Amino acid sequence: MTMIVRVAQTFLGTAELGVDLKRSHAVVVDVLRATTNMVIALDHGAREILPAATLQEARRLHDSIDHGKLLAGERSGQRVPGFDIGNAPSEFSPRNVHGKTIVMATTNGTRALHHCADSLSVTIGALRNAQALARFQLKNLAARSDEAPDPLVIVCAGTDERYSQDDMIGAGSILDAMIALNGSIEIDDAGLTAIDLYRHHADDLAAALARTTHGKRLDAIGFGEDLQVAAEDSTSSMVPVMQNGKVVPLPPDPKKGKTEGKLGERRTGT
Ligand code: MLT
Repeated sequence: MTMIVRVAQTFLGTAELGVDLKRSHAVVVDVLRATTNMVIALDHGAREILPAATLQEARRLHDSIDHGKLLAGERSGQRVPGFDIGNAPSEFSPRNVHGKTIVMATTNGTRALHHCADSLSVTIGALRNAQALARFQLKNLAARSDEAPDPLVIVCAGTDERYSQDDMIGAGSILDAMIALNGSIEIDDAGLTAIDLYRHHADDLAAALARTTHGKRLDAIGFGEDLQVAAEDSTSSMVPVMQNGKVVPLPPDPKKGKTEGKLGERRTGT
């Protein structure tokens, strides 16, 4: 069975893809830094993440939780005054997040998640979990019996509603992994661009992120080391899913155990 895959270069761009987002499976990608941090937080034992579209909503959600909570968020890359932590990967340490409900508001990533909230399923992608996510999507496809499966839309969060190359590299990593797993996928031209970008930069993804507008901006305000963390390719087997407004880990496959590990070499052609 062939899966139709479309790539939206910003979350506002989903309207132009020719597919209905509500009848699609969405993967939201914000490599710098929101979805990277969601993968890290859940790997470090966070209970759940509640993505908020605005700072006001984040404060309201945070107030509604009694205990075991953490308020995370940024504006212009910096921690929001009054919030517990900002949006640097190091702040999502086991010590800070273990067992906690994290309310998170970021400029692009959490808004992109809200944009996709009505999709058939919403998963969270980053370079960090590209192979695990690709494997999950293909398994999901194989489990369906319908002749024309619903499309998969990889939604790049973008930066300030504009194209952001870091997210396209992340999308390319997921697609490359799907191909390496012999997935039968029909990709649009944005998807082809994403794969080419990823393959071109695969040997030094941190350098590729450092060239981007967002990467340069983070470096300029002292978050250069975050790019190294975001560039760690398929080091996590975490597949976060958003259900009823909460981002939680996909329950582990009882047959395989929690960690499926890194796949072998890829970049094997389209
Ligand atoms: C976002 O969602 O806009 C980002 O994660 C921004 C950042 O903190 O780098």
